[in-house]
Amino acid sequence: MKKYLRNVMAMAMAAVLTVALASCGSSSTTEEGTTGDDTAQDEAQVLVMATNAEFPPYEYYEGSEVTGIDVEIAKAIGEKLGYEVTVEDMAFDSIITAVSTGKADFGMAGMTITEDRLESVDFSDTYATGVQVIIVKEGSPITSVDDLFAEGANTVVGVQTGTTGDLFSTWDIEDEGLGTVERFNKGADAVMALTQDKVDCVIIDNEPAKSFVAANEGLVILDTEYAVEEYAICFAKDSALKDEVNTALQELIADGTVQSIIDKYISAE
Ligand code: ARG
Repeated sequence: MKKYLRNVMAMAMAAVLTVALASCGSSSTTEEGTTGDDTAQDEAQVLVMATNAEFPPYEYYEGSEVTGIDVEIAKAIGEKLGYEVTVEDMAFDSIITAVSTGKADFGMAGMTITEDRLESVDFSDTYATGVQVIIVKEGSPITSVDDLFAEGANTVVGVQTGTTGDLFSTWDIEDEGLGTVERFNKGADAVMALTQDKVDCVIIDNEPAKSFVAANEGLVILDTEYAVEEYAICFAKDSALKDEVNTALQELIADGTVQSIIDKYISAE
C-alpha cells in the first residue's frame, strides 16, 4: 500500500512546509535577485524564470509566447515587487540545476515539493495542488490505481523525465518488479506513445492530463488518484528572493488574484 502512504506523506510534508515557510519572516534583502548586467536605478530588474513549457495550463506555448497559470502568477509577483519577469524554457529536469547554479532566479513549472528537491533548492509557500493521475486507452484492462500494484502486474508506464510521475512509478512499479517506466522529454510524447500502444498508461499531473486527453481521441483518466502533491516556486538555497516572493504571493492569494488566474485557465467541474 505504498502509494497511499506516499499520498499521506506528501500531504503531511506539504502542510509542515507551508507552516515552516509561513513562519519565516521577511528578512532584509540585500542579496541580489537578478542575473546579468547592472541595471539603471529606474529600470526594473529582470528575474529569469526557468520553466518547461510542455505543461498546459500551467505553462505552454501560444504561438511563440509561453503563457499559462505559472507565467501569470510569476508576472503578478514581479509587478508587485518591481521586477520584470522573463521566461526561459528548458527541459523539466534542467530546472533545478538552472536555479541552484544561478542561471535562473527561480523555477516555476507546476513543480512539486519533494524531499529530494529540497536538498538542492528552497521552495516558496505552495500556490496550487496537483494530483498524479493515470491516463489509459478506453477499454484498457487497467481500470484503477490498484491494477498497477496487483500481483503479477507488468505495466509499461509512460512519464515525463524527472517528474514526480517518473520518480514515484520508478520506485513503486519498476523497482518493485511490477513493470517498466518509459521516459519522454514531453508529457505529450508519453501520451502519443499511449495512443500508439507503446505504453500501457501515462502517469502525469491532472491538469495537463485533462488537456492531453481532450486533444486525443479514445483516452480516459482513471477516477482513482495516484498521489496528491503541492506545487511551489523553487529558489537557490538561502536566496533572499524567496522571502520577498512569499510576501507577494501571500498578498496575491489573500486578494484573490491567484485564484482568478487559476480560474481563467481551469474551469470548475
Ligand atoms: N508536478 C510534477 C513534478 O513536480 C510535474 C511537473 C512538470 N512540469 C512541467 N512544467 N513539465 O515533478
